[in-house]
Amino acid sequence: MNKRLTTLPLLLAVLAGTVMAQQAPTKPEALIKARQSAFQVVAWNSGRIKANIDGQYNKDDVIKAANVIAAVASSSVGPLFQPGTDKGKGWHDTAVLPDAFADSYRFGQLSNALGTEAAELAKVAGSTDDLAAVKAQYAKVTRTCKACHDDYRAKD
Ligand code: HEC
Repeated sequence: MNKRLTTLPLLLAVLAGTVMAQQAPTKPEALIKARQSAFQVVAWNSGRIKANIDGQYNKDDVIKAANVIAAVASSSVGPLFQPGTDKGKGWHDTAVLPDAFADSYRFGQLSNALGTEAAELAKVAGSTDDLAAVKAQYAKVTRTCKACHDDYRAKD
């Protein structure tokens, strides 16, 4: 069999795979979907913490949820707000405001604040059974949500 004919399709497939692998992460739709999903995860875990504070308190549940928020904040917020993703559709139209890109430094600081306050919440919940202290730290976490949404997310 002609060797060239058998290797060419393979080579093309490899090249196509390489191009796709390089393009996939920068497609605006994929980035917007990913960040909307990331914030759903953040919101779900924030709700779990609130339910614990308001209802039957389970320290481990709070620590786990706070750690997830901290991890998502540090891994997913910055890299998913790349230039070119100010408009477009993920699961639905993006709600980001253009200022998030114009003030990228402050936006990054608010994202870091979410991570830092959530990590601190995990620490507080792990070191005390004083519900008031946990509640106060949780309020610091949700203040970072509001600060960022007030300036960088369109109202519903
Ligand atoms: C650094 C800024 C920032 C912080 C901090 C932040 N958010 Fe957001 N959030 C956004 C932006 C911007 C969007 C819009 C994303 C989009 O549509 O592309 C958003 C979207 C959301 C959404 C909608 C997700 C969807 O389905 O489209 C929820 C829910 C949410 N945030 C909850 C929270 C909660 C809860 C916190 C705090 C625990 C928080 N966010 C902290 C900036 C932030």
